[in-house]
Formats: sequence, C-alpha cells, structure tokens
Amino acid sequence: MKYLSKSNIKNKTVLLRVDVNVPIQNGRVGDEFRIEQIIPTIKFLQDNGNTVIVCGHLGRPKGKKDSALSLKPAGELMARMLGYKFVETDHALPDYGIRHLIFYTGDLMEEKHAEKLSMAPSKDVILLENLRFYPGEEENQKIFAKKLAGFADVYVNDAFGVDHREAASVCAITEYLPKFGGLLLEKEIKSLDMLLHKSKKPFVLMMGGIKISDKVETIKNLGEKADKILLGGGIANLFFSSKGYEIGLSKIEKDAVKTAWQLEKNFKNKIVLPLDVVVANEKMDRDSIRCCQPFEIRKNEMVLDNGPKTMMAFAKELKAAKTIVWNGPLGRFEKKPFDMSTMALARIIGAVGTRKAFAVVGGGETVNAVRLSHQFEHIDHVSTGGGAMLEYLAGKKLPGIEALK
Ligand code: 3PG
Repeated sequence: MKYLSKSNIKNKTVLLRVDVNVPIQNGRVGDEFRIEQIIPTIKFLQDNGNTVIVCGHLGRPKGKKDSALSLKPAGELMARMLGYKFVETDHALPDYGIRHLIFYTGDLMEEKHAEKLSMAPSKDVILLENLRFYPGEEENQKIFAKKLAGFADVYVNDAFGVDHREAASVCAITEYLPKFGGLLLEKEIKSLDMLLHKSKKPFVLMMGGIKISDKVETIKNLGEKADKILLGGGIANLFFSSKGYEIGLSKIEKDAVKTAWQLEKNFKNKIVLPLDVVVANEKMDRDSIRCCQPFEIRKNEMVLDNGPKTMMAFAKELKAAKTIVWNGPLGRFEKKPFDMSTMALARIIGAVGTRKAFAVVGGGETVNAVRLSHQFEHIDHVSTGGGAMLEYLAGKKLPGIEALK
C-alpha cells in the first residue's frame, strides 16, 4: 500500500474518505475523537497545496436523505477544529477570501454539482453530505464511485473505522483514482500489525462489553498470542452462565453460551474470569448494591461491575504485561459507582503504557473510558475502529485496506 506520508501529492484535488460516524446528541457531536484524529491529514494535504474534499457517512439511512443523519454537526466541529468559518451550501461554492469549511449539500449525481466541486478553492475544505444518502454507497456501485472520483485527482483513505465495509467510497472508488492510505490509517495499521506480528510477552488481552458475538474471532486469534485473557462485563456473565451459575437479571447473548464454553476449553490456562462481582437489583437502588462471588448471584440481581478482588487480580496481570490490548468496558461504567473497575484499570494501563508496555485500546465506550480517566496520552494507540479493529485483530482482510493494495 502507498501511504500519503511517503507520497509527493502536491497541488491536486484530493478526495479524502474519513470515518466521521460519531454519536450526535441534540444536533452536536457527542464524541469528538474520530473527528479530531483526521485533522492532521487535512492539514497535511492543505500544507502541500492540495484542495481537500472530505467525505464520510453517518448512521444507516439506507440510501435515503434523513436530516437526523446529516453530517452538518460533524462539519461544524471540523470547522472549529481547523479554525475555519463554517458555511453550508447546495449550489455555488463561495469565495470570500478567508478560509472556510464548506458543507456541500448539493446532489452529487447532478452534473452541474460535479463541475462546481471540481473547481473548489484550495484554501477551503469541502465536506460532502452523508454518502449513505445515496444507495450507490452501501451497494459499492461503480457508477457512484465513478461520480465521486470525478471530483478529484487523487483518493486518500483515512477511514480505518469503515474499512471493514464494502462501500463505493471505500472500495469501488480505488479503481478510478490513484490511491493512498492516509496518516491515520497508517498509524492504525502499523499499531495493529505490531500486536499481530511483533508483540512482546507477557501479552495480556482484556475484553469486556455486552456482546461476545463480534469479539469471539478476535479472542480466538489474539488468544493464541496472549498469555492471559482477562474477561469482564457481559462477556464474563456468559461464561458464568455456561458453568451453570445463576446470573439473575444480567443480559447475555443466549446463543453464544456454547461459544463461551468452547473458548474456555481452548484457552483453559489463559482465561481469567472475575473472582467477585458487584451486583444490584433492577433499579440499581443503593441499598441493594453488594459484592459477591460469581456463583452467589441472586435471581433478582444483575451484575454491574467486577469486584475489588478481580480488580487487583487484573491489575497484577496488566502491571506485568509488555503488550496490552483492551476492548470493552468491564461494567456499566457510565453509571457510578459501577465505573470503578473500568476506570481503575484504564489508569493502570495508562501507567504501564508510560513505563514499558505497548498498549492498544479500541471500541467507542472503551475509548470514552480512557478519555474520562485522562489516560489518552499514556496509551500507545487508541484506535478509531470499533468493528474494523476487531476484524483486523481477528486476522480478517478488510475490504477497504485490500482495495488500497
Ligand atoms: C463504525 O462506526 O463502526 C463504522 O463507521 C461503520 O459503520 P456501520 O457499522 O454503520 O457500517
């Protein structure tokens, strides 16, 4: 793959595919991480005299316009981060002299718009409206890809988070333009390749969250390299259920109980399950909160966090590690006091990361926990990929990355 960092792209019009699929709350971006991570690529391209046309998707509008899924809030934030003025237009591109982030909502399939876009001024950044408003995007249609390619001279993919999807702006487009991996994509691939091919031992894999179905292949693949697999959150409940323990009101993926049983058999000496858990009743009343052993959970309780003994046991493994991968919170961390083990272990990973271990963290909620615990700078790589990171670490080939090769 050719990377932008080693290319000599100057004075061109560049179509930059990014992953700005971020939560929107009351018309504002709820999590800035993915957007902040693409700003260096935009600046790098502009510093080399290129005109940048940014494109991405939001949500799953299924080929139809949906104002709730407009990329406008993402554009407004991008403009603030770049220090540019935000302008929205569906017709002419304004040229006011000062720098703008032009949020372009014109119909990309109409010829007149294509002409306008190809004449975009290089001092401004253009952001296209949600590509998934067009059916051609998710269908990986050549005709749509060709249309997008018509706006630019060069294509740069900096959208690791969506590279596991076969979409027109990710795959088909690479047939029509010279193609490069962006600065963020390069960082993602190099960091994840370190884990897959050059990891140092002891290697500790820590997994949490509710769903195991999208993590099982990752656990299988990384489990071979890992010395310890620490499990918490809903995933651990699944393992308790497979042992026949009562898990009360805790939600699990019932179909996956057999998978848990199989994983435990495969990685018998590696899997570390919680020694104790924090439970409460359905309403999470303070009086009902207690700590118990996993086989002491009652029918009217649900598991909300790992207990203190588990925290110590996990901390011990993490402190000894030279490679750490973490995906998925260990409890209901968005609600206090059930954030204790997620936050404490985020801090331990930050501390160990500063000292010696190569640490990689991914997944929306996990990244949020890293931010809330102020550990961002201490972790070698915080991935912008959710599903994409899991698939890459599961050893799968991502269509978007393959298309760049
Ligand atoms: C993500 O957030 O994982 C990517 O942007 C892909 O989004 P999708 O799951 O809607 O395809």
